[in-house]
Amino acid sequence: MANDTNKFQAIISHSKEYGFIFPSSEIYDGLSAVYDYGQWGSELKKNIKDHWWKSMTQLQENIVGIDAAIFMHPMTWKASGHVDNFSDPMIDNKDSKKRYRVDHLIEARIEELEKEGKKADADALQTEMDRLLKESDFPGLKKLIEDLKIKCSVGGTSNWTEVRQFNLMFSTQLGSVSEEASEIYLRPETAQGIFVNFLNVQKTGRMKIPFGIAQIGKAFRNEIVARQFIFRMREFEQMEMQFFIRPGTQKEWYEHWKQARMQWHLGLGIPEAKYRFHDHVKLAHYADAACDIEYEFPFGFKEVEGIHSRTDFDLKNHQEYSKKKMQYFDSEINQNYIPYVIETSIGLDRTVLMVLSEAYTEEDLSTPEKQDGRVVLKFPPKLAPVKLAILPLTKKDGLPEIAREIMEVCKSQFRCFYEEKDTIGRRYRRMDAIGTPFCITVDHQSKEDQTVTIRYRDSMAQERIAISEIASIVNKQLM
Ligand code: GAP
Repeated sequence: MANDTNKFQAIISHSKEYGFIFPSSEIYDGLSAVYDYGQWGSELKKNIKDHWWKSMTQLQENIVGIDAAIFMHPMTWKASGHVDNFSDPMIDNKDSKKRYRVDHLIEARIEELEKEGKKADADALQTEMDRLLKESDFPGLKKLIEDLKIKCSVGGTSNWTEVRQFNLMFSTQLGSVSEEASEIYLRPETAQGIFVNFLNVQKTGRMKIPFGIAQIGKAFRNEIVARQFIFRMREFEQMEMQFFIRPGTQKEWYEHWKQARMQWHLGLGIPEAKYRFHDHVKLAHYADAACDIEYEFPFGFKEVEGIHSRTDFDLKNHQEYSKKKMQYFDSEINQNYIPYVIETSIGLDRTVLMVLSEAYTEEDLSTPEKQDGRVVLKFPPKLAPVKLAILPLTKKDGLPEIAREIMEVCKSQFRCFYEEKDTIGRRYRRMDAIGTPFCITVDHQSKEDQTVTIRYRDSMAQERIAISEIASIVNKQLM
């Protein structure tokens, strides 16, 4: 059984072994911090995406969704501040040539202090780092790293360069002939696709403030220290929503979305104690208030979602750079203004990792006679990749025919999985390992009375139900 320290490794291995997540282009030894979702991982990810989309658009009468292109006019990133400001303070080790994010190096030391039970020292170091970062005091940060005698994990030396800023955007060329080609960026956030479409959506949708625009899509960042599996990737997906409001109301809407987003997280069935808010000390270049929703991963509390009060920074800058008016006429107060924005921004891949971490359970089922155990993914049924496994007890006596009939009725309603091979116990365990909440077994009694055994994943309880009830029992759990 995995303890807390190796649980994370166990989740990574399980994800690969059961078709959730593979290293990208693995036959060529993979690509650092890039991952592919396998047959069950892509179902899980899609279910999370659909759940977010439904709760942020269908269930909100004043929020609509869009799907903007990844490539955008290069001026977008000048206006948004990403060309000039989207960088992290980095430091290189002169011997190993390894580059590190300064805050990650110091955070690792803070974690060590916490593990050693030196809470006061850890807090003091956190405060000092936050102060230096806020003041962009690069010599101070270098001195702190030297004073702490932090060593490069590869070279083992403390021979550091000065601290410098590195831009995180990937760039590429648009156009086939080099003289005509212009440099464009792979978007580092989906948000700008929403800002540049603000007027299009507001006008064509006849939207009245307050209203929101939601989007799910890929984002790319050349993370220097990409680590912790799908927690920090170079290509990832975001689910973002920009909520446009009247200037002066940002405090109350910021609070509203903080609470609303926390409720969404709790709705995933994850206990409150596994979440906390973390207020930003060093604000991003666009924000006047910001916090993270952090989840307690097996490697500690880390950010899953950011809630940012972005003022009118983005629309104002797009107005300035594009020379197109970004104003809204508010008929209630008879005024034109550039709306303020509250943003909710959640990483889809991080949410997958959060849901996987919460679901992953190792159970010891040993009896005095026999050692036994199982790994079960206790996903909420609505997120589970497969909802129902349909298992004929044997391959003969007409049982597969009945099972196939059930499959035909159910597969158009939710994801089903049909399997005849192996003992029923083995088949149950395989379904536990991918988190299938319900299995039904068709046996000889089914031929007599049109009933089957339903087996519940978490309790492993079994009961007899009518074949005609199967779909409604499963559907009820998917609401
Ligand atoms: N539009 C605002 C924005 O992009 P952010 O805090 O930089 O804000 C929002 O990113 C969310 O995107 C994060 O909370 C995280 O879940 C996810 N995210 C950011 N960088 C990531 C990365 N390299 N890999 C995976 N997810 C990432």
